[in-house]
Amino acid sequence: MLAAPINPADINMVQGTYAILPDLPAVGGNEGVGDVLEVGSNVASLRPGDRVILADAGLGTWRTEAVVSEEALLRVPADIPLLCAATLGVNPCTAYRMLHDFEVLEPGDSLIQNAANSGVGQAVIQLAAALGFQTINVVRDRPNLQELVNRLKALGADHVLTEEMLRKPEMKDLFKRIPRPRLALNCVGGKSATEMLRHLQSAGTMVTYGGMAKQPVTVPVSSLIFKDIKVRGFWVTQWKRANAQNKEEMNKMILDLCRLISAGKLAAPACLERPLEDYKVALEASMKPYSSTKQILTM
Ligand SMILES: NC(=O)c1ccc[n+]([C@@H]2O[C@H](COP(=O)([O-])OP(=O)(O)OC[C@H]3O[C@@H](n4cnc5c(N)ncnc54)[C@H](OP(=O)(O)O)[C@@H]3O)[C@@H](O)[C@H]2O)c1
Repeated sequence: MLAAPINPADINMVQGTYAILPDLPAVGGNEGVGDVLEVGSNVASLRPGDRVILADAGLGTWRTEAVVSEEALLRVPADIPLLCAATLGVNPCTAYRMLHDFEVLEPGDSLIQNAANSGVGQAVIQLAAALGFQTINVVRDRPNLQELVNRLKALGADHVLTEEMLRKPEMKDLFKRIPRPRLALNCVGGKSATEMLRHLQSAGTMVTYGGMAKQPVTVPVSSLIFKDIKVRGFWVTQWKRANAQNKEEMNKMILDLCRLISAGKLAAPACLERPLEDYKVALEASMKPYSSTKQILTM
């Protein structure tokens, strides 16, 4: 292994609250990048020297070496930046699927998302910009808000708002200039999700993929009756498992994402690299709010 991030799901797995839990004792971490050092005599698709990421969750990536089956790995181009490869398999794939699999958006259409500064949110901003979709990005207020707004705009965000601004009547003015979103991506739950729902176009879709506020999603009855809003969920691990046999879709997605990385259109999220030995400091830092920085363990 060369590098592996600490994602919220990894923390939930350690806490024992995630949807999949390994048998103990286990190694933490579900995502990362490595080099193939040796292959068994029956391995056909990989060679020593190949750069690889993990095809599925649950391997345990916070380690220096692993022996795994050929099917557990996906080859990626060796020339993409290491931090992009280390963070490619979960968040950009989640963003990619949510932008392609729920609503058919055309260039000029808009979408709205909360926790827009999350790893997934940053990938959504960049992929949407590459596809010509306009993004309305909601973040929590903070003392250095303008700094964060500038950072997200530099990634391609069209509009960056705080949760409070989302509730103001002035939102109507925004929708005189751009179409109402047909897609909402919910990483938070609670009030934040309900407010996004209110701005969706009729028959639009809200996809919930995270529950950072640990609050349920409340759907106004009027959204269902008068606007026929669709409320869906997405889990990339489920998608990968459903597509494990037929690799065509998976390979297309990884290829598309790697092309965007090579073209300079998809950067890794803001990261802080820490040597694996400093895992305690990295784990603590990964659970701090308002950091907007992903902790990456480097081996
Ligand atoms: N369903 C899937 O397939 C899938 C795939 C990938 C990720 N996820 C989930 O998506 C979420 C984000 O993952 P990530 O790797 O992108 O995370 P990340 O980079 O660590 O970002 C966490 C985000 O959550 C926000 N946040 C934290 N606590 C919050 C709260 N109480 N209320 C509102 N926002 C809060 C943070 O905002 P601040 O800066 O304001 O703290 C930040 O934007 C996690 O729940 C993760 O498990 C799901």
